[in-house]
Amino acid sequence: MKLIVAVARDWGIGNKGGLLFNAPEDMEFFKNSTLNKVVVMGRKTLLSLPGGNPLKNRINIVMTSDVDFKKEDCIIVNSTEALFEELKKYNSDDVFLIGGGKMYNELYSYCSEAYITKFDAIQEADTYLHNFDEDKDWLLTYASEIHEHNGLRFIFNTYKNLALKE
Ligand SMILES: NC(=O)c1ccc[n+]([C@@H]2O[C@H](COP(=O)([O-])OP(=O)(O)OC[C@H]3O[C@@H](n4cnc5c(N)ncnc54)[C@H](OP(=O)(O)O)[C@@H]3O)[C@@H](O)[C@H]2O)c1
Repeated sequence: MKLIVAVARDWGIGNKGGLLFNAPEDMEFFKNSTLNKVVVMGRKTLLSLPGGNPLKNRINIVMTSDVDFKKEDCIIVNSTEALFEELKKYNSDDVFLIGGGKMYNELYSYCSEAYITKFDAIQEADTYLHNFDEDKDWLLTYASEIHEHNGLRFIFNTYKNLALKE
């Protein structure tokens, strides 16, 4: 499983159920990375998607503790054990953890790589990601050139999980 996320300089990732930044190039990167693959998300992130609907042309796996929760075109799992059981069906390189805060922080150590778009700005946030730069288990393996949208600068980083035994 791989993790994909966009963060602020202080590792903020969300506020009041929504995202902090909107850069078309980053959305494109997310789409190209996940298209025709498997995406894993928490119930709150599903709710934050347009219309509360799953992402098209992807297998959507949604985690919730609500055993009665149903959503068309989503595979629902009620625990990490159930998630890992479901993930046995797929190639782990095709599985993307797409959020949100609770899901990332519970599951990042099971991810082999993290694609982190870093925005050079800070926004009011109520949801934060673990700081990968302060974690010796994660090695920065790629840093893009600087991109810019409406004066907002951002870079694409890739980290590798050195602690994961596959
Ligand atoms: N910057 C980014 O790239 C990015 C990406 C995605 C999301 N976000 C942002 O992140 C925020 C949402 O994050 P969040 O932390 O509030 O919510 P979340 O991680 O999307 O979802 C949390 C929910 O997932 C379910 N869940 C998580 N772990 C579980 C477990 N072990 N067993 C059963 N169910 C489990 C629970 O659902 P129930 O309550 O139903 O039990 C829990 O309330 C939003 O602001 C969103 O915009 C940012």
